[in-house]
Amino acid sequence: MCGIVGYIGNKEAYPVLMNGLKMLEYRGYDSAGVALLNGRLEVIKKMGKVSELENFAISKNVAGNIGIGHTRWATHGEPSDQNAHPHLSMEGIFSVVHNGIIENYAQLKEELENHNFSFRSETDTEVLANLIEYFYGQGKEVTAEMAVQLALTKVVGAYGIAVLCSNEKDKLIVARKGSPLVVGLGNGEYFVASDASPLAAFTGHVVYLNDYDMAIIYKNNFTLKNIANNPVSLTVSNLDMKIGEISKGDFEHFMLKEIFEQPQTIEETFKGRLKPEYPDIVLGGLLNVFPKITAAGRIIIVGCGTSWHAALIGEYLMEEYARVPVEVEYASEFRYRNPVLGKNDVVILISQSGETADTLAALRMAKERGATVLGICNVVGSTLARETEAGVFTHAGVEIGVASTKAFTAQVTVLTLFALKLAKTKGTVSTEEYQALVKELAEIPAKGRAILQNSNHIKQVAEKYKDVVNALYLGRGTLFPVAMEGALKLKEISYIHAEGYAAGEMKHGPIALVDDNLPVIVVAPHDAYYEKIVSNIQEVKARKGNVIAIVTEGDTGLMGMANDIIEIPKSHPALAPLLAVIPLQLLAYHMAVLRGCDVDQPRNLAKSVTVE
Ligand code: G6P
Repeated sequence: MCGIVGYIGNKEAYPVLMNGLKMLEYRGYDSAGVALLNGRLEVIKKMGKVSELENFAISKNVAGNIGIGHTRWATHGEPSDQNAHPHLSMEGIFSVVHNGIIENYAQLKEELENHNFSFRSETDTEVLANLIEYFYGQGKEVTAEMAVQLALTKVVGAYGIAVLCSNEKDKLIVARKGSPLVVGLGNGEYFVASDASPLAAFTGHVVYLNDYDMAIIYKNNFTLKNIANNPVSLTVSNLDMKIGEISKGDFEHFMLKEIFEQPQTIEETFKGRLKPEYPDIVLGGLLNVFPKITAAGRIIIVGCGTSWHAALIGEYLMEEYARVPVEVEYASEFRYRNPVLGKNDVVILISQSGETADTLAALRMAKERGATVLGICNVVGSTLARETEAGVFTHAGVEIGVASTKAFTAQVTVLTLFALKLAKTKGTVSTEEYQALVKELAEIPAKGRAILQNSNHIKQVAEKYKDVVNALYLGRGTLFPVAMEGALKLKEISYIHAEGYAAGEMKHGPIALVDDNLPVIVVAPHDAYYEKIVSNIQEVKARKGNVIAIVTEGDTGLMGMANDIIEIPKSHPALAPLLAVIPLQLLAYHMAVLRGCDVDQPRNLAKSVTVE
């Protein structure tokens, strides 16, 4: 949620910043801007996407070797040129970009107004810029660094900030609390970004800032301290990221590329973990904590959005196979209610980004209460990965499409591995069944590839329904969360209202929506629920609804009943979510493209929700 970049060195800063902003645009795209130090502080900013900033900047002076940049997801103040970052302080001494929310901004603003400060925008960030300038004006001994520290001690809320000072033109100051920041170490140059992806082209060495850390960065060195001015020890991490991962390749959109990558990303998730030849599963990252997990009285899985849907599939699998009670919680609810939680509980936090504010708050709360906290996360070096006791990386590679696809299937893959391994360790699954499932899991990528071949057929189905206003998705068992995920995909990228429901619940409300305009997408493979779901389909048909059925290859039972049929290969029911979700992703994708929507950057959304 909001992307920050910074550069200091001998290069022209502007191209580096623009390159970074394009990579971070998934974090928000309401406006973009840069500030450059080139003798004076030059601020160029524009409502809209980074490309609009780029066009706008053609006629501007973009020279300078020090600069900061920002791509915004609006919180305080509508998307506009005025509310775009960077924000200048009243006298123009400081320029600030900010990711997060200053919760006490109204009170600080009032105090600053009493000191005759005026404001040009509605943002909380401009308050911070003026607060820094206020402290800077309190005496000649107050340096920019001190002014930033003093201002941050007054701030309640979350921030990742980068600051330039027009009186101290040799430095770039950054600080974080709650919102991520990474410093890339170059040779006579430093880079700053909200996540490491823009840094990969320039350096293999990075420093992840922790909460309350602040870095004062010069061209040839930088100091890490905390906002209370105490030194902080510096940990340099290696950046292991392939630059090629961040291009669309031959695909029209990142989302489509990421949908098509899934067989390969699932294989990446298997690497070193799935041993179909033995057959067995090894989860190296959990070895030390596995005794605690097997002894746990309860497992609680926490996430947001798509990660929460993956968690629900995990619940079904863990209860079915490992016979352990599992609860699934929205992070935003869990963190604020007063859950019964203690040292016998294992809390698994799931997050693609590892930076979702609510999920991190839930993590810290669970830790405080003595639970064992584990992570399932895609981004190595993210806050979640660093703050959990142990965990499993999903290794899905960088996901750029705002609507999550490959990260979801990677999360479900990890949860499946976890549930089966736990079951085997606890002895709640027979060796035969365990080994059969391990072997069949290894076949999932090939089956996924077969579904992707059907993309054109799914596009034809999408053509028929692209103008609808509502859609209903139904499933049972592990395919109920898949139905919810399908509905979420459609809603996110096509703006069609969609709901995912447990098929058996349809009669308790959604059936009232069924008419000859409503597409009902039913996930109906040939499993134990088949007869039940066929009855649900009959109920929809009796009310003239249009049924799009996702069925097992070769199943002719729904022909003549469903309006459209999309086949998926036969699989064990426990593994079906990994396959059934793919046609739903493709259906949402094609419908959105046919409606002319911006699928990679849908309106109002952001990929990484770092504010609560
Ligand atoms: C946002 C994204 C979703 C994602 C959710 C949770 O809403 O648009 O795609 O599922 O955040 O993000 P996380 O990084 O914690 O998985």
